[in-house]
Amino acid sequence: MSLAVAYSRAEEGIAAPQVTVEVHMSAGQSGIGIVGLPEAEVRESRDRVRAALINSVFEFPQWKLTVNLAPADLPKESGRFDLPIALGVLAASKQIPPESLADYEFIGELALSGELRAVRGVLPAVLRAREAGRVPIVPAANAAEAGLVAGGHALSAASLLDVTAHLRGVAALPTCPPRVEDLAEFDAADLADVRGQPLARRALEVAAAGGHNLLMVGPPGSGKTMLASRLPGILPPLTEAEAFEVAAIASIVGAGVDPKRFRQRPFRAPHHTASGVALAGGGGTPRPGEVSLAHHGVLFLDELTEWNRQVLEVLREPLESGRIVISRAARQSEFPARFQLIAAMNPCPCGYLGDSSGRCRCSPEVVGRYRGKVSGPLLDRIDIQIDVPRQPVTLLTRGGERGEASAGVRERVLGARRRQWQRSRCANAHLPAQAVPEVCAIGLEDQRLLERAIEKLSLSARAYIRILKLARTIADLAGADRIDTGHLTEAIGYRRFER
Ligand SMILES: Nc1ncnc2c1ncn2[C@@H]1O[C@H](COP(=O)(O)OP(=O)(O)O)[C@@H](O)[C@H]1O
Ligand SMILES: [Mg+2]
Ligand SMILES: [Zn+2]
Repeated sequence: MSLAVAYSRAEEGIAAPQVTVEVHMSAGQSGIGIVGLPEAEVRESRDRVRAALINSVFEFPQWKLTVNLAPADLPKESGRFDLPIALGVLAASKQIPPESLADYEFIGELALSGELRAVRGVLPAVLRAREAGRVPIVPAANAAEAGLVAGGHALSAASLLDVTAHLRGVAALPTCPPRVEDLAEFDAADLADVRGQPLARRALEVAAAGGHNLLMVGPPGSGKTMLASRLPGILPPLTEAEAFEVAAIASIVGAGVDPKRFRQRPFRAPHHTASGVALAGGGGTPRPGEVSLAHHGVLFLDELTEWNRQVLEVLREPLESGRIVISRAARQSEFPARFQLIAAMNPCPCGYLGDSSGRCRCSPEVVGRYRGKVSGPLLDRIDIQIDVPRQPVTLLTRGGERGEASAGVRERVLGARRRQWQRSRCANAHLPAQAVPEVCAIGLEDQRLLERAIEKLSLSARAYIRILKLARTIADLAGADRIDTGHLTEAIGYRRFER
């Protein structure tokens, strides 16, 4: 009778809680029983492990084997535990030294041949293994991903035999390649391509400078999508801690992480036919949705009025808290979801209300109903609402002057962000409400001005606070210590849609 222990990690949100795999070998009818996996997965895992052992020319012990995955109440998908289970069996039957497992954590699915297959969610598991002071061993196909956060530390293996050779001290496994960063590789589209549109360009810069949400209203072809896609190119790069979170989410959905884009902010543009689950996340083992894939980056909702209102309701929680909780049966999973919302829509059903062509024939009732599709609570949370008119054709066809390039705009954005960071350690859009009176203090005259505007536009108390934060960002862009009347009126002016 003997016992062996191997460590692994489960998937739960972006946390990767430790799982202890205990293999107990005792007298009794030969076979393998697995405790702690969902019933349906037990058989598959058992078959894979048995075949992999035999095909790797190990002996499958003719004893009673009991495998226990603890703790019991974690969500567990079987594949990733194949490797630690196989190693536990080998250690319990003394085919490898049992004590050799202690310093490592194992993750990987076994093919019947004994080759290791890639699994999802390797990155968070590797991060946590490292914190726990153990060396993670991952499938070779996941080596690049593991290397992003534990290059030169984590090990990768192509097969079960490679792992056992390493554990027996016969042939050392290679380390995962460390990340090579090259900030110059940012491939975002450039603002220089956008001609004219001075107001929209300014709004985009302000949005970037403080992390504010933005709604663009304008006819088809006016450049809304073009402008939105240029936002990532003027945002500051991710900090290392932010980049780890972003990469962990990408890892869980099985989307690879491009090392060159490690510091680039995500830009997600789901189609308006996307479901609530696609937006929020969900599934048997809950997976992050678009709001989490856009974490620390941009969530772009084009054709906002085409979206189902119920589906958009999903945005409310993350817009307030920067997190989303996915409930499924008895279990809740939480994912980070701190995104910057950029939305675009037409001004009316035909798209040409207010256009210089004068071709819009939509009645005020029709326009009202159309705009009503965007719920008040959502609009309330969009600090910058602007019109994006069509530019004169000659401006586009005759070439004309190119706009200011993204690099210059980004410099100003970085400067404004630096001031915010020194003052409150966060972007203005994420200032906690209780910090606003002090950080966004305004004079008595300006106080009256703002109160009158709130009344006139029938804005909410939430909008009041949001306008102050926006004014603070405008002052930061100007390098001003105090918010003045000019900053405040510009901020109020951005609530165009609610007039
Ligand atoms: N201000 C502009 N400067 C340069 N090109 C523009 C501008 N506005 C529109 N365009 C051109 O028109 C195309 C359509 O713009 P797009 O952003 O898709 O419009 P929208 O999203 O508002 O319907 C763009 O790909 C671009 O080639
Ligand atoms: Mg568009
Ligand atoms: Zn119209």
